[in-house]
Amino acid sequence: MNKIAEIFTSLDYGPAPESPEPALAWLQSYDNRFGHFINGKWTKPGKTFASENPANGKVLAQVTDGTSADIDKAVKAARAAFPAWAALSGYERSKHLYAIARLIQKHSRLFATLESMDNGKPIRESRDIDIPLVARHFYHHAGWAQHLEREFPGMAPYGVCGQIIPWNFPLLMLAWKIAPALAAGNTVVLKPAEFTSLTALLFAEIVEKAKLPPGVVNIVTGMGETGAALVNHPDVDKIAFTGSTEVGKIIRKATAGSGKGLSLELGGKSPYIVFDDADLDSAIEGLVDAIWFNQGQVCCAGSRLLIQESVEERFIAKLKKRMASLRVGDPLDKAVDIGALVAPVQVARVRDLVKKGVEEGGQVYEPDIDLPKGGGCFLRPTLITNVSPSHTVATEEIFGPVLVAMSFRTPEEAVALANNTKYGLAATIWSENINLALDIAPKIKAGVVWINGTNNFDAAVGFGGYKESGFGREGGREGMAVYLKPKWEKDLKPATKAAAATRAKGTGVVSEAGDGIDQTAKMYIGGKQARPDGGYSRTIHGPDGEMVGEVGEGNRKDIRNAVEAARAALGWGATTAHSRAQILYFLGENLEYRADEFARRIRAQTGESLASAQKEVAASVERLFAFAGWADKYDGAVHNPPGRLIAMAMIEPIGVIGILAPPSRPLLGSLALLAPAIAMGNPVVLVPSETSPLSMTDFYQVIETSDVPAGVINIVTGGTATLAKTLAEHDGVDAIWCAADAEISTMVEKASIGNLKQTWTSRGLYYDLSDKQKFEGDYFLRRATQVKNVWVPYGA
Ligand code: NAI
Repeated sequence: MNKIAEIFTSLDYGPAPESPEPALAWLQSYDNRFGHFINGKWTKPGKTFASENPANGKVLAQVTDGTSADIDKAVKAARAAFPAWAALSGYERSKHLYAIARLIQKHSRLFATLESMDNGKPIRESRDIDIPLVARHFYHHAGWAQHLEREFPGMAPYGVCGQIIPWNFPLLMLAWKIAPALAAGNTVVLKPAEFTSLTALLFAEIVEKAKLPPGVVNIVTGMGETGAALVNHPDVDKIAFTGSTEVGKIIRKATAGSGKGLSLELGGKSPYIVFDDADLDSAIEGLVDAIWFNQGQVCCAGSRLLIQESVEERFIAKLKKRMASLRVGDPLDKAVDIGALVAPVQVARVRDLVKKGVEEGGQVYEPDIDLPKGGGCFLRPTLITNVSPSHTVATEEIFGPVLVAMSFRTPEEAVALANNTKYGLAATIWSENINLALDIAPKIKAGVVWINGTNNFDAAVGFGGYKESGFGREGGREGMAVYLKPKWEKDLKPATKAAAATRAKGTGVVSEAGDGIDQTAKMYIGGKQARPDGGYSRTIHGPDGEMVGEVGEGNRKDIRNAVEAARAALGWGATTAHSRAQILYFLGENLEYRADEFARRIRAQTGESLASAQKEVAASVERLFAFAGWADKYDGAVHNPPGRLIAMAMIEPIGVIGILAPPSRPLLGSLALLAPAIAMGNPVVLVPSETSPLSMTDFYQVIETSDVPAGVINIVTGGTATLAKTLAEHDGVDAIWCAADAEISTMVEKASIGNLKQTWTSRGLYYDLSDKQKFEGDYFLRRATQVKNVWVPYGA
């Protein structure tokens, strides 16, 4: 049979290779050896390591292993460039970003080819997905640069941002980091992943061509140690990291107490839920995309198939058939579906995990398809069935072309299985019943939910995780917010001096303090007053040392009980915003009703004048009203990304928030933090001022008369340092806000890594919580919420 007849008979694909020549020629133009790009210039290559093509093991180039001196030099350049860059008009910055976007498009083929050679991903993906999204990101953020002042009034850039990115989407992750940082007016030092530095180096040329001022973008290549040097550099103002949860936790710990801003985009084990009424064929195509896109090396990969039992057999049979038609091969071949994994170490890691899956009882299916001859980091698409939720392969991020399948019977069971993970990055739901899909989406704890589709991304739509998948978002308005901070933050003063100076001293005579029947205030847990577990009390003294009351000395067990009660009240987040508003108004009203009594109690504890104490009570009532007003107004958006899709950006509560109130302002100090947290649907465990807790123990009666559901507000009195530690270490607490000294703040940030809670700490600085301009709005609302983007296709 001649060749053409043979092709007609087999209908097989012929090779459709993209030429590597232009990329090789570009590498050759640098003699295949690269230094760093610092202050607009290339440094001489130092000690280098090889960057290999994982499809054939060939060395593409030698890349410099950055030292701490290199990092220092880059940070200095970024620091020097910062004032002028931040002072440029938004329009001027937008023109630079626009120029970058245009230049990326002009050189898109070279970028795509180099990316596929360096990373192993199919050219089809780098050409049609990665690089177009990179350009889209710079275009989108050009607009943010221009509208920054209007849309983010009172906000300023951090300064120098250290950015560390992984190897799975080398140029795309660079764009997700650099575009918003520059739009906001920051300068950056970016460290690419050691396996994939080359497109970041090509990007440096774009930076030159776009005529960015020297030092605005610096690229320093290297290993993990180079990244660590960047994280630990004292003159870096913010760290943005994408990579493994393990390294994310190391970075959280390393930055604790430094005051550096931090955003983390970490791993995932995302569920892919298929209901029995789904369009199964479409769901199969979606699944191919979910788990075999980029060889499964995707943080949001739909790596856990949850299939409804009634269609399980049929679906798995279809899936196996489809898997057998996937083509694994040369990443530069345009007809290839699955390319090479990034490096031999990743192949070994994936193989080990599959082996573990088998040992734990899983059944492995791999289609009998050819792998390219002559080595390279290739793996067949793999399916593991007979898996239970506790198996390693069902809990660990495999980061390879391996799908794990489990079944469920009811929607409730699907939700329980989907949420049975420490991660919360993404989820996919397939059902032709829109009511069912939209019922499930809010119940899944993940930052992105795709309905009847998967892996949709757009620069206008925030991306990022819940729980141990990290915090902060990339893309859209939320993504801009993580590169900005309020201008006033730089003027904060140490708390001790500032608080003392603002306190209006009274006579010091507070004879009414100890009046009345002797009473030791209890804890307030699960809607009831509870005796302290330890059986100890703490004496509360007035300004002249006299005793003004006693409160329980809270311990670990009290916190545990309070967290348990708060978790049982998580349904608070699902009550209507209107009801939450009504309850906050009611709290305010009932507090006002007893304003005199509360004012006298403040005076007794602090010694300030009655007038000043009355002002604090009035401000507290006002604050409760303010957040009652916000409860039904701080809401989401509907984005209109390219394609027939909408993305609903839903504002959701974070979960249980632990609050350590500041020592000053016994009533307002607590309520200024409590009100935004509960307004947004978060149950709270509050530790009131250590020195003046009686205003909040008096508040129990206000709570009890205001219809607050049991467990929504829990109050534990005692020593701030001890209780802060227990709260920060507790995995049932999702976020922690701590107004305390620098030492306690650092401890809280360090101790928060167990479940990667989101933290806000005052680090010994004085936040004047009575300032309405600063604290009656977005500042705490943003910290009390996270955005979930639910993507929904439309059209018949
Ligand atoms: P990694 O988290 O170690 O590397 C990501 C980046 O962090 C790289 O640029 C690396 O040089 C840098 N880095 C490493 N240690 C650092 C440190 N102590 N301080 C600062 N920067 C540091 O990821 P790795 O080792 O390349 O991959 C291991 C596993 O991590 C993968 O198999 C996968 O499960 C997961 N991973 C997840 C990613 C995601 O997007 N969710 C991306 C990459 C890896």
